[in-house]
Amino acid sequence: MKVLAVFLVVAAACATALEISVNVSVSGSAKNIVCYFTSWTVYRNGTGHFDVEDIDPSLCTHLVFAFIGITADGKIHLLDEWESSDDGLAGFSHFTNLTQANPDLKLLVSMGGWNEASKNYSIVAADSAKRKVLVEEVVQFLDDHNYHGFDLAWLYPGIRDGSDSEHDAANYVELLKELKAALSAKGYILSAAVSGGITNMDIAYQIPLVSELLDIINVMVYDFHGSAETHVCHFAPLTASSKDDDGNATLNVKSGIQHWIDKGADPAKLHLGVGTYGRTFTLADPNNAELYAPVTGQGRAGPYTNEDGILGYIEICELYSNWTYVWDDDQQVPHRVSGDQWVGYDDEKSVTLKAEYANEKNLGGMMVWSLDTDDFVGICGGETYPLIRTMKKTLNIITSS
Ligand SMILES: *[C@@H]1O[C@H](CO)[C@@H](O)[C@H](O)[C@H]1NC(C)=O
Ligand SMILES: *[C@@H]1O[C@H](CO)[C@@H](O)[C@H](O)[C@H]1NC(C)=O
Ligand SMILES: *[C@@H]1O[C@H](CO)[C@@H](O)[C@H](O)[C@H]1NC(C)=O
Ligand SMILES: *[C@@H]1O[C@H](CO)[C@@H](O)[C@H](O)[C@H]1NC(C)=O
Ligand SMILES: *[C@@H]1O[C@H](CO)[C@@H](O)[C@H](O)[C@H]1NC(C)=O
Repeated sequence: MKVLAVFLVVAAACATALEISVNVSVSGSAKNIVCYFTSWTVYRNGTGHFDVEDIDPSLCTHLVFAFIGITADGKIHLLDEWESSDDGLAGFSHFTNLTQANPDLKLLVSMGGWNEASKNYSIVAADSAKRKVLVEEVVQFLDDHNYHGFDLAWLYPGIRDGSDSEHDAANYVELLKELKAALSAKGYILSAAVSGGITNMDIAYQIPLVSELLDIINVMVYDFHGSAETHVCHFAPLTASSKDDDGNATLNVKSGIQHWIDKGADPAKLHLGVGTYGRTFTLADPNNAELYAPVTGQGRAGPYTNEDGILGYIEICELYSNWTYVWDDDQQVPHRVSGDQWVGYDDEKSVTLKAEYANEKNLGGMMVWSLDTDDFVGICGGETYPLIRTMKKTLNIITSS
């Protein structure tokens, strides 16, 4: 097999123009881009409003509808019946009808998410009769709604209130085994969203078994730091900072992905997750915006995402592009500062580096949380979805024969 090196220049659409020279050699087939659609964004107003019509069906290889829920009996629980069902806004059918525009598209439905917590999953996974109910419900649901697969976003086995730290990891594998048998018999895909934090991974997953059973492993190598921090930190750094100590030197993308690989995951199934948003802080001292500088709390909400501590990339590039831009050489990610407001996020430059790392490790591709916070309007640089397009370009530098 001959592998050619390719030279590529990427020009950034937003903010500071930048030129990145990339010299990579990769072989293999085209990579996946798994993108999550957050159905609750249909309730946002103005520019932030995001519905199925805003999805570009040619952008991602897999689209995942987030979320459906579970009851303690193993039944599917629609989290927003009005939004999803044909009696209301028909979210499910609009979504699965996207294959009319792109027949190659794979559409999945995701069960779980942060707000669903861990308890019902733990209860169902522990009980073979309830697991059977769930597996039957999932197959029926995929049949009824024309999905191609199921994504389990149990956050996380053995972790958080109501979970069972001793037995969840083994019960999770049992559940995956039964799902896999039923889904693969009908040609359906089985995927899962999993933690990228080493401490969580060691509790939640029997990695070799999980890797064998799943077709797609979406590693959430973001949210390493969240709303409760007392110090400035980046939510998804590519690498450790020289300021990190043993307590936090693994809270980064490379450590998380490498741990999945070291513990026995098949790299071709791993999908490196990228958040198309930033996490924000209010600085205790506007003159100290360094990593680990003290903060008084989260940053102020933006007009589209409307949540303290979070700004979508679309908000950052449209509304806050006059904030001072800083590239952190240590962690290979940018942040912006204005007065006492600080936001750490991903831009075209850091996303390119993450995609190059995915290539270097021969991963199956990347995952995106979520479509609605990339610049889906093309408001900043003219082109829609600049972050996801950057990923796609970089991942597909594949020249082999
Ligand atoms: C959007 O606008 C509607 C109608 O004006 C209002 O009822 C609703 O609360 C708004 N939604 C949000 C998220 O602001
Ligand atoms: C869990 O199951 C119970 C009972 O089946 C249900 O009422 C509840 O909404 C479910 N979800 C959560 C997050 O508790
Ligand atoms: C999805 O496509 C089918 C077949 O063309 C059509 O009957 C249905 O109305 C569409 N659903 C929605 C919500 O547009
Ligand atoms: C992370 O590193 C900083 C800087 O060395 C340190 O102050 C902090 O205590 C560390 N956090 C943890 C959880 O170890
Ligand atoms: C950035 O621009 C907005 C309006 O476009 C303005 O309100 C704000 O004060 C500016 N911020 C800085 C730091 O210049």
